[in-house]
Parts: sequence; C-alpha cells; structure tokens
Amino acid sequence: MTILETRGLTYSYPDGTVAVQDLDIKINKGKKIAFVGKNGSGKSTLFLLLNGTLKPKKGEILFHGAPFKYGSKALREIRKSIGIVFQNSDDQLFAPTVYQDVAFGPTNLDLPKEKVRELVDRALEQVGLIHLKDKPPHHLSGGQKKRVAIAGIMAMEPEVIILDEPLANLDPVGADEIMDLLNEFNHFGSTLIISTHDVDLAYRWSDYVYLMSNSKLIGEGAPEEVFRDVELLKEANLRQPSTLEIYNEIERRGLTNGRSSPKTVPELVNALKPPDLMWVDVPPGVKEGDTLNLGVLYGEYAQNSPYEAINARVLHIHPEGKAIAEISRRGFKAGCILIYDTDSYSHSEVIEVINEGEIDFVGAMGKRSKTLAEEDGIYLDVSSGVIDRSLLTALCGKRCLILTGGGMVDHALQRIRDYVEKSGIELNVGTVNRDGGGFCWLEGFEEPVDGGEPTHHI
Ligand SMILES: Nc1ncnc2c1ncn2[C@@H]1O[C@H](COP(=O)(O)OP(=O)(O)OP(=O)(O)O)[C@@H](O)[C@H]1O
Ligand SMILES: [Mg+2]
Repeated sequence: MTILETRGLTYSYPDGTVAVQDLDIKINKGKKIAFVGKNGSGKSTLFLLLNGTLKPKKGEILFHGAPFKYGSKALREIRKSIGIVFQNSDDQLFAPTVYQDVAFGPTNLDLPKEKVRELVDRALEQVGLIHLKDKPPHHLSGGQKKRVAIAGIMAMEPEVIILDEPLANLDPVGADEIMDLLNEFNHFGSTLIISTHDVDLAYRWSDYVYLMSNSKLIGEGAPEEVFRDVELLKEANLRQPSTLEIYNEIERRGLTNGRSSPKTVPELVNALKPPDLMWVDVPPGVKEGDTLNLGVLYGEYAQNSPYEAINARVLHIHPEGKAIAEISRRGFKAGCILIYDTDSYSHSEVIEVINEGEIDFVGAMGKRSKTLAEEDGIYLDVSSGVIDRSLLTALCGKRCLILTGGGMVDHALQRIRDYVEKSGIELNVGTVNRDGGGFCWLEGFEEPVDGGEPTHHI
C-alpha cells in the first residue's frame, strides 16, 4: 500500500537553483527506503518537501492518497504523521534543555503530561542520553545532538520517519545502536526514509533505493539490482558496496555457490563454494563412508579448529592414514544462538543460562540491554553488529547468547531464520523468557539438506 507519493514534484530556491525536478516516487507503507546521491543532488530539499516545510513549485505530494494542503492546521497534521530529523541538528534543537526539546513534539500533540513524560524518558533512554536530560542541547557534541533530534522525533511516534543522514557524526557502535532502534520502529510498522552517502548501509539496510543526481532521480529498485548497475553508480558518483565488490571478485574466480547478492559477512561466507574433495588426516577407527565434522583452520581441515565447521564424507582411506573426503558445507551441524528477552530481566537467570547453556559468546543489542549487562558485570563479547557476529560464531560450532528486548527479539529471530533458510545450515535457535515465558527451542527450521549427524567429530 502506498503511503507517500509525489507526482512531477519540482522545487527551486528563491535564487533560481532548481534543487528537485520532476520527481515521481511511491513509498510503500512499512518499508525501509534509502535515497542515495552525491552532495547537492537534492535529497535534503526533497525531504523538506516531504514533510511540508517547503512548498512545491510544481507537482504534488500525496499522503494516504490525499494531496498535501499547506494551511497551518493541515501542516500540523502532516508533521504529526511525518517526522523529520534534519541533516544539521542545530536546525532542529532549540529548547533550553534536552528534556524540553524532546518533549516539544509530544506536548504539542496535546497528550496528557504523564504520557509525555513516559514517551520522552523512553526515547532518551533508547538513544542513551537520559543522563544528559537537563543539559542545554547546544552544549552537546555533534553525535549527542543527533541523538537528541532522533529522540525528539521518536517520542512523537510518527507513521513515517524521515532521517536526513542519520548516521553522520555518530561513532560506529552508536550508529549501529541507532540503526537497531530504527529497525525496531520499522518492526512495529513505521515507514522509514533515510538519505545517506554510505552505500554499504543503503545496500544492507534498505528494501528499496532511489538514486539521485543533479536534482533528478536516475535510478530506483531493490538494492541488489541498483548496486549491481556499475554504469548507474558511476553516473551517481558512487561506488559499489564492499560486500558486493568482494563477492564479484570471488565470483570471477569461480569460487562461489551460484549467483547471489550477499549483504552481510555471514551471507558472504555462505556464498563461498567449498572445495569438493580434500586430503585429511583421520584418526584410527574411521572407515570409508563415515561422516566427519571438521573445522577449517587457515585453509586446512583440523581438529578443534576455532573456525567454521564442515561435514566431510570419507571416500577412500590411504594406507598411511590420510583420507580423501568429500566436503559438504551445507548440512553441517553448527552451534546455537539463544535470545534472552530483557523486557523481564533477571541477573541470576542470565548467569544460569550462560552457565547451564555452556555459552561461549554473549552479545547485547539495544541500549537498555547493554546497560543492564554492564551494570551487572556480564562480559559482552560483542555490542555492535551482534546478529552477524553471533551467526559467524555459531558457524564455528559455538554457543551464543543475545540479550535484547522490545521488538528486537522478533527482529533478531527473523534475521537468523532468514539466514538458516537461505544457507541450509543447521543452527539451533531458541528464546529464553520471551513474553515472560520460559525456555523454548524454535521449531519449523528446515532439516539439513544433506549430511545429517556426523559419525565422528575430529
Ligand atoms: N537555501 C538554499 N538556497 C539556494 N540554493 C540551495 C539552498 N539549499 C540548497 N540549495 C541548493 O540546492 C541543491 C540541492 O541541495 P540539497 O541540500 O537538497 O542537496 P543534498 O543532496 O541534500 O546534498 P548533501 O549530500 O550535501 O546533503 C544544491 O545545488 C544546493 O546548492
Ligand atoms: Mg543534504
């Protein structure tokens, strides 16, 4: 369903600069959209048009099928539903304290005082700035200001959230946290529109991409199509995302499993074609036809490897103890990922899960879960890119625990489920404490494609 649409949208600034020209876009509800284009291509101007801050010179904008109106009451309604985080936070922040700034939007929605307090506290906690709530915004760092501006929009819970360069000024872990938060909003139905120069982010994160150049749209489509079009990227002054560039080089050397468009490191790993046959050292007792569960260490198959596990069927045993084995990556038995829902958190329970579940690797997603772990002295192996790094660790046969709350439990499950389905790798996934329930392994995962239980672990 289309939520926001433009038809022939055109805007020129008073000095005559044409910044947006004849734009037709259709944004579907609940999607994650990225606008990508070089400096001065018209992204910020378009965003100001999309929430009614600027009025088109030609063309129109429709929200839920109804054309924008520009009277003050109509604009108030638009801005309630379509929130924008400006590229430059100084254009957005004006109240004497961080708290008042974030409270400005919800207060204007005529919500009860208690509700406003609840929304503001939650938004500030989510962006990790609750401790700065009494500070004047102009005394904050660039990244902190950005977080306040994002909190201010999130506290209004708009249907569409537009973010102009949301990650500019944010440190890498902070950027991951904001993206996690945006994904959470998206999970609950918000439509997200961002502009970015970061092709890796646009490729990995978005459902649909628009490329802009010199005030016009020059391309659009699914990220895997747009970012494969080298000529188009050249025209837009952009480069290919790194994972795609690495994949292309591997593919040219004939080392991939068919054609794919990996977006993350675990997907890239899964795109690699393992060698078909390999000499391996086998212990006494192994017979021809046995299945071995091996690890890969620096290109050799080795015992107790900390790297990715693989299934291998012994075809022939040489008298000197070496064997020729047929390698199969699909169907090997990887480790597990457990997700603990921190919405009802108990320190002793997490420690019990870590000990009894023989957990090797712990990660936390979302500010609240990280703070809980930090306060309780739970050592975190990873606090950014948590899902991908847990997947990579589980691929090596290890047992991982992800601490997260809110909508992120479902989001994490979905990402892991997608990976399991695409890769065919057997990975146990479970939740602890979800919605106050106990422990449960998830059902419905596909059986391994081949291999099954190895007869020997070496
Ligand atoms: N207030 C203004 N008055 C006149 N021209 C402007 C104004 N603001 C922007 N422009 C011009 O409009 C064009 C589009 O600018 P815009 O800020 O929309 O680009 P952008 O894609 O957001 O760029 P960036 O990636 O640098 O943020 C540019 O040529 C810019 O110089
Ligand atoms: Mg801009």
